[in-house]
Amino acid sequence: MRAVAVRGFGGTPELMDISVPRPAPGEVLVELTAASVNPIDLGIAAGRLPLPHVTPLVLGVDGAGRVTETGEGVHGLEPGDLVHGQFFRSPLGHGTFAEYAVVTEFPDHGALQRVPDGVPAEIAAALPTAGMTALGVLDALGLRAGQSILITGATGGVGTIAVQLAAARGAEVIATARPDADRWIRELGAAATADHTAGDTAAQVRKTHRSGIDAFLDLTGDTAGFGEYAGLVRDGGAAASVTFTAPPELLASERIAVSNFEMRDKPDLLARITAEVAAGRIMVPVQRTVHLDEVPEALARNGAGGARGKTTVRIR
Ligand SMILES: NC(=O)c1ccc[n+]([C@@H]2O[C@H](COP(=O)([O-])OP(=O)(O)OC[C@H]3O[C@@H](n4cnc5c(N)ncnc54)[C@H](OP(=O)(O)O)[C@@H]3O)[C@@H](O)[C@H]2O)c1
Repeated sequence: MRAVAVRGFGGTPELMDISVPRPAPGEVLVELTAASVNPIDLGIAAGRLPLPHVTPLVLGVDGAGRVTETGEGVHGLEPGDLVHGQFFRSPLGHGTFAEYAVVTEFPDHGALQRVPDGVPAEIAAALPTAGMTALGVLDALGLRAGQSILITGATGGVGTIAVQLAAARGAEVIATARPDADRWIRELGAAATADHTAGDTAAQVRKTHRSGIDAFLDLTGDTAGFGEYAGLVRDGGAAASVTFTAPPELLASERIAVSNFEMRDKPDLLARITAEVAAGRIMVPVQRTVHLDEVPEALARNGAGGARGKTTVRIR
């Protein structure tokens, strides 16, 4: 089968021809229809996750497709089922940038479920990591109606879903966006924007929100900026980073609740965010769709700037 893999940690992602994996006990074999690109893909290729792995290491954590075979002991899924999720498991290397992937019925590090009626495969593949993260971190922040929240990195995969979820909760969303994405992110639910390319993002927010904001969500990994943005949060408010950039001195703050977000209970998050999409309350913005042979180039582009929602991969 065709797959995009690295030959070892630190290798360059390339299209390869490798054997179709066979499902072991507790695993299912999925014929993938679509996948999507996430920043973690390059992190995995670089060896940043301290988990065992196989080589060639097939990349890709998000995917959707049809179960074609089940291993011994699989009871909840059967051949023909349409499934999607975060195919994230140990050992690493059975990723979704491939025509087939094996995944455990109950992934140890991810989540897998049937695709609800009416959700297209491309959307089902674009949603898992970004959607679970957006929903989980807003839960962790305890965001409520009437509160204000600054979201940095709002125009990316996680951000575009977080903006919609926060607005749907009745919060006032202040989103960072380049000028050419300003109107678009407002259409997704932002009430105000700050241009993060102008160099004075926190000052822009301070100008329009003189009495401060209730919450700050970092989706960028901007270590230097975290303290400045957290400084905008009123006493008793909350700040969270999904990129582990909240520094120890702020994590110990008694003025506001600061956390580095770690996702828990992925099956619950995946079920809830997919239900929002299936009901038409949340949309998954797909910026670009590529074919499997274009994935190496798409990975190289990811993080190079200008991300607007998700890049998906059409596999068949
Ligand atoms: N903890 C977890 O479980 C978890 C899960 C998923 C993702 N993540 C992390 O969350 C981050 C976001 O993921 P993603 O999938 O949304 O990535 P993405 O699609 O690449 O989006 C990143 C967004 O951040 C914007 N951005 C970059 N630097 C910025 C800055 N200094 N100020 C404001 N915006 C900035 C980019 O906009 P421009 O390109 O226009 O600048 C882009 O829209 C990644 O670091 C990822 O690894 C963590």
